[in-house]
Amino acid sequence: MRSGTVFTQGLRQAVGGSPFWTVEAVRQVRYHVVSSNGLFEPGNTALLTGCPDAPLHPGDRRLVVIDQNVDALYGGAMRAWFTAHGIDATVVPLRADEAVKQWDAVSRVVDAMNDFGIDRRREPVLAVGGGVLTDVVGFAASLYRRGTPYIRIPTTLIGLVDAGVGVKTGVNYERGKNRLGTYAPATATFLDRSFLRSLSLRHISNGLAEILKMALIRSEDLFVLLESRGGAVRADRLQGTTEDLSRAADAIIAESIHLMLEELQPNLWESALERCVDYGHTFSPTLEMHALPELLHGEAVVIDMALTTALATLRGDVAEAQARRIYDVIRALGLPLWNDVLDDPALLDDALLDTVRHRDGQQRLPLPIGIGRHHFVNDVTPAELRDATRLLRDHAQGHIPSAGSLVPEQVGA
Ligand SMILES: NC(=O)c1ccc[n+]([C@@H]2O[C@H](COP(=O)([O-])OP(=O)(O)OC[C@H]3O[C@@H](n4cnc5c(N)ncnc54)[C@H](O)[C@@H]3O)[C@@H](O)[C@H]2O)c1
Repeated sequence: MRSGTVFTQGLRQAVGGSPFWTVEAVRQVRYHVVSSNGLFEPGNTALLTGCPDAPLHPGDRRLVVIDQNVDALYGGAMRAWFTAHGIDATVVPLRADEAVKQWDAVSRVVDAMNDFGIDRRREPVLAVGGGVLTDVVGFAASLYRRGTPYIRIPTTLIGLVDAGVGVKTGVNYERGKNRLGTYAPATATFLDRSFLRSLSLRHISNGLAEILKMALIRSEDLFVLLESRGGAVRADRLQGTTEDLSRAADAIIAESIHLMLEELQPNLWESALERCVDYGHTFSPTLEMHALPELLHGEAVVIDMALTTALATLRGDVAEAQARRIYDVIRALGLPLWNDVLDDPALLDDALLDTVRHRDGQQRLPLPIGIGRHHFVNDVTPAELRDATRLLRDHAQGHIPSAGSLVPEQVGA
C-alpha cells in the first residue's frame, strides 16, 4: 500500500511526523432460531425452507456431523428424510461427551470437511447433537478456511435453550473449561423438542438448570412456572403429553430462550464484562472440571447458584424464605444442592481468582436480588465464601426446613 492512500474507510493521522492508519469496519451479524417439532418426519420441510439464509434444495450436498448416540437413535429417520428430499448427505458420527470435548474431536471434524471438499460459500455443515457436539463442530467450522457456515440441530435441553442459541463455540484444554473457542454464530439453529423424549432425566435436569438460571436473575414469572410445573414437565421430558404440560413446556422453553437472546444480542462479543447470564458460572467452571466426569455442566452451574443464593441471603439481598423456595425448586428439578468439592475452600478461592482473571481484574459477580432480579458485586471475600458454604451445607443436609411451613418475607420485591 502506498503511504497516503486510504483503501479502506479509515483515518490517517500524523503522529510525530510518522504515517499512522486506523482501519474500522463493522460486521453485521444475523442468525436465526427456528422452532419446529419432528424435523425428520417425512412431511416436515422446516430444514428446506425454514431459514431464509440457509435454504436447502433437492440435489444439494451436505456434510452432517452427528453425535454417535443420537445417530443410533435418530440416524435412520434422518437419512431417510435426506433421501426423500433429494439431499446427498454425507453423515459422520462422532463421539461427543464432555470427556472428549478436546482438540482431537476438532481435528476429526476438520478431516471430515477436508474429505468432503466443502464449498464454504454454499454448503453449511450440519451439526446434530448435544452442546458438546455443536460446540465442537461450530469451533471447527469457525476455524476452517477462516470461517465456514454451519447449522445447529440441538438434541439436548442444554442445546435447545443455551448452547444452540448463542454465538460461542469451544473445546476444553487441559483443565480449562472451553479454554479454546471462538465467537461464531450458526447461520441457523433448528429447535425440535421431540429429541428430548430419549434424553435421560439427568440430562433433562441439566438443561433445566440453565433455565432456572434465567429465572433467578431475570424473571420471577418463569421461576413461578418452574415452581408449579417444573417437576411435572421434567418427568414428561418436555414432550407435552397433556395439553397443560404442552403449554407449560412451550412457555418454559420459549421464555428462557427469549430472555437469553435478549441478554446476548446487545453484547454478542462480550465486550461488556458484566453479564447476568454469567450467573452460576463464577465457580462452576472450576468445580465442573475438578469433579469431571462426576458433575454435568448444569449440575455444576446449579451448585454455584445454590452457593451464591446462600451468599446473597447472608448479605440480606435474598430473604430466607425465598432461598428455601429456590432450594425446593432445585430439588424438584432433580438437581443437586451440594457436592463435596465445596469442602475444599482453596478450590473456591482459586475459582474466584480464575474468574477475576477472565473478567479483566474484577469479580463482576452477578448476585440475585430476591427472585428474578440481580446486581453485580466486586467485594466477595474468602471468609464470606466459607460462611455461605456452611449455610448451604445446612440447607443441603436438611438442617433448615424447606419453604412450605413459613410465612414468606419479601426482599427485593
Ligand atoms: N456454546 C455455548 O454457548 C454453550 C452454552 C451452554 C453449554 N455449552 C456446552 O454444552 C455442553 C453440555 O451440553 P449437553 O448438556 O447437551 O451435553 P452433551 O452434548 O454431552 O450430551 C449429553 C449426552 O446426551 C447424549 N444425547 C444427546 N442427545 C440425545 C438425545 N436426544 N437422546 C439421548 N441421548 C442424547 C449425548 O451423546 C451425551 O452422551 C458443555 O460442554 C457446555 O460447555 C455451550
